[in-house]
Amino acid sequence: MKKKTPKTKEPGKPLSDSDGKVISEGCVHVFGLGVRAITQITLESNYLLQNMQKVFHCEDDSRVTEYLADIGCPEVNLGYLYQEGRKRERVYQEICDLIIETAKTGVKCAYLAPGNPAFLNSIAFKLQEATARNRIPFFMYPGVSSIDSLLTDLRDSVEVTGFQCFEATQFTRLKPAVDKRVPLFLFQPGAVDAFDVGSGTRVNLRGVKLLQDTLIKLYGRKATWIVVKSAMSIEENPVISTGDMDGLLERADELKLGTLVIPGVLGQATDVNS
Ligand SMILES: C[S@@+](CC[C@H](N)C(=O)[O-])C[C@H]1O[C@@H](n2cnc3c(N)ncnc32)[C@H](O)[C@@H]1O
Repeated sequence: MKKKTPKTKEPGKPLSDSDGKVISEGCVHVFGLGVRAITQITLESNYLLQNMQKVFHCEDDSRVTEYLADIGCPEVNLGYLYQEGRKRERVYQEICDLIIETAKTGVKCAYLAPGNPAFLNSIAFKLQEATARNRIPFFMYPGVSSIDSLLTDLRDSVEVTGFQCFEATQFTRLKPAVDKRVPLFLFQPGAVDAFDVGSGTRVNLRGVKLLQDTLIKLYGRKATWIVVKSAMSIEENPVISTGDMDGLLERADELKLGTLVIPGVLGQATDVNS
């Protein structure tokens, strides 16, 4: 039997065969946005995004909308699902389900995630599992992660000092063995045990107290912490503040959207390149 040649695809339309029957090409591509709105998206993602039929995201930032319009991508903003007080897990599941249901109809779906989606992004991992269950092709592409921006802002040689990193809720629960000489990076320090939407923009004081107690047991009351907030746009500068463990709870507000670093020997490392 003669093989039917697929028609050339019009942008935004599903691929169809010569009888006009849609060939299912549903797939899910997850792209990293970087931490500075869209300025840290890679050229690879910029190129591939233009081939997507629906681009889902939850960003409350008009620059994302403008960018998607500029490159001709049909945008679906799911930010409305993040209503104050809703369980985060439930919101993540709804976002994942919506994308999977769309991909099942043969649509090429993209999901834009902050930073690098492979680092601390529950929705990206839910999508990975759901696509595997539903036999939908799945791809993931990095954007600049907060790990990259932190290393850039601190400008220290972690290749010499070593580097430990944990999500802060996991850290307070698992209390993993740490080497106190090696810098420790704690992500989401303002959201320890915060399971509702809204806690990401507010600091959960009960959680910060738990974190403070865990750190005091390990490092003592006078040990130094650093909070790094990398610039979120090209017009801003990074904010780096410091204090001691005893004062961490009082200054809990500074943990909002930043990463907590316990420096260890950071700053004292020998520069192997000099
Ligand atoms: C939900 S995680 C997302 C991480 C993201 N996937 C990435 O690759 O950076 C959010 C956490 O990343 C860290 N983070 C994000 N943006 C940051 C920034 N501009 N400066 C410092 N840390 C940041 C903070 O620890 C924050 O609580």
